[in-house]
Amino acid sequence: MKILAFMGSPRLRGKCNRLTQKALDGAASAGAEIKNFELIKHKIKYCMGCGKCFLKEPDLTIGTCPLKDDVRAILEEYVQADGYIFSSPSYDMFCTALIKTFLERKISFTYKTPEEFGKIPAARPGIASNFMKKASFIVTANCEDYLEEVMGEPIYEAFEAHLLFEEVDTVEKLYCGGVENMTDEEFDVRLQKAFDLGKNLVETIRQYRAENS
Ligand SMILES: Cc1cc2nc3c(=O)[nH]c(=O)nc-3n(C[C@H](O)[C@H](O)[C@H](O)COP(=O)(O)O)c2cc1C
Repeated sequence: MKILAFMGSPRLRGKCNRLTQKALDGAASAGAEIKNFELIKHKIKYCMGCGKCFLKEPDLTIGTCPLKDDVRAILEEYVQADGYIFSSPSYDMFCTALIKTFLERKISFTYKTPEEFGKIPAARPGIASNFMKKASFIVTANCEDYLEEVMGEPIYEAFEAHLLFEEVDTVEKLYCGGVENMTDEEFDVRLQKAFDLGKNLVETIRQYRAENS
């Protein structure tokens, strides 16, 4: 079982990354192999919208993108993994541009004919649900917990939009509000929740596969 995290904060020593790492520790405690993609460390160019990746070569699992950067290597690991943790701070009430840029490049998992434009995308062969993968999300924000609907929901939806056609279900969402003024004691409680989220992700995937295989 392999769990990958995609961490969208530019601050590697920030709260978002600490929670993400703790969630991965939780996944490891349940027996998973783990890896944290701290996206700021990777070369991820903007999608240029050429459409080549989803219009051409449908037999490939990952469509061919003309951009030369780290994304193809990341996606190759993505398709091999069993579960995902997507995390981002709230920036202007949405996910960071960093993780959004990565999500847009994941469009290379889709295959469309021109007739299919305007409909929900279809996943390429090798991407969809028969892998029985699942994902959980972590959002940090300065606005307090009661504002999760405003600050957290748009980010969850951005993540879920991409997981929809991959048929990857969401297991859990952790919103950590008020991060900038939080005491160490309060943050420790959130770290424990992140640990539990990672552990629960692995256990849920394992249980789901046992019941459905
Ligand atoms: C450019 C920018 C925009 C932000 N916008 C919001 C926002 O809309 N809502 C909010 O609650 N916090 C906002 N914040 C605060 C961040 O969400 C907070 O600092 C972050 O979650 C802490 O995570 P980190 O330690 O990983 O940086 C913003 C911070 C920055 C730098």
